[in-house]
Amino acid sequence: MKIKTVGVLGAGLMGSGIAEVAAKAGYTTIVREVSEELSRKGRARIEASLARAVEKGKLDGAARDAAKARLSETTHLEDLADCDIVIEAIVENLETKNATFAALDRACKAETIFCSNTSSLTITEMSAATTRPDRFAGLHFFNPVPVMKLVEVVRTIATSKETEDTVFEFAKSLGKEPIRANDNSGFVVNRLLVPYLLDAVRALEEGVGTKEDIDRGMELGCGHPMGPLRLLDFVGLDTTYFIAEIMFNEYREKRFAPPPLLKRMVLAGRLGKKSGRGFYDYGAAK
Ligand code: 3HC
Repeated sequence: MKIKTVGVLGAGLMGSGIAEVAAKAGYTTIVREVSEELSRKGRARIEASLARAVEKGKLDGAARDAAKARLSETTHLEDLADCDIVIEAIVENLETKNATFAALDRACKAETIFCSNTSSLTITEMSAATTRPDRFAGLHFFNPVPVMKLVEVVRTIATSKETEDTVFEFAKSLGKEPIRANDNSGFVVNRLLVPYLLDAVRALEEGVGTKEDIDRGMELGCGHPMGPLRLLDFVGLDTTYFIAEIMFNEYREKRFAPPPLLKRMVLAGRLGKKSGRGFYDYGAAK
């Protein structure tokens, strides 16, 4: 199947990143948000990132203008009816995702492939809310989407080989380097990353070292671009807490249990970079 038109559900951090890479790769891209205001914010985020890419020498002015021209926004799900693939990046709530996919299923042509960018929820359950579980897969991007090379292509037991291969080739056409994963909570990367991030919080709680030394240790000792506590601030403490809860409920293993300090920080509104403060201080909220 030849993909020409891409639909993106949600214009948050991940959705706008996905829309940006799709438009840059030459696809006509329609982004659906639930309100005009959120649509405008998403568009502004994409335009700021495109400007940054030009500034960093990754994109020229003509390519930026072409990408902008390929992008449009809507608040109506029905406007995605003729898309060849729709990638969902809305709130990480299974009921909301299932309801949205059920409505999308009624709106879209039969051939449209559905993908979810969920980081830890079950793709199989979302696909069961539609009449097309064979044309349903996970497509998990990493933050910041325009920069990170990896995409996880997730197959369920119902995903057809044709769908899996089409989605894999689509990810490559976005300039990404996909890997395949089965539909287990956390797939490959979060299955390994989340226990590591939670362990860093436990190390801090136990006084193993200061936050700066824990981060510097992993940056200089393992060559990570960011230490775990700074990465937690970057991903969002609430997001990580939420993912950990889902994974803990799925596996019932204590390595996935969010430590008390993480919960306290979320309760105190210290969500990381986006709220202006997490383990580190970022001044005014972004
Ligand atoms: N478009 C295209 N390219 C861009 C860009 C944009 N908008 N903005 C920056 N870039 C490029 C830069 O040109 C640069 O490329 P180069 O190395 O070839 O010169 C590269 O991206 C890095 O940009 P910067 O120099 O501005 O920034 P840093 O060097 O400070 O890196 C970072 C920032 C990429 C965020 C880096 O710190 C990093 O990789 N951090 C770890 C991120 C990570 O682990 N993400 C995964 C989180 S987990 C997740 O997402 C899963 C979810 O389910 C929780």
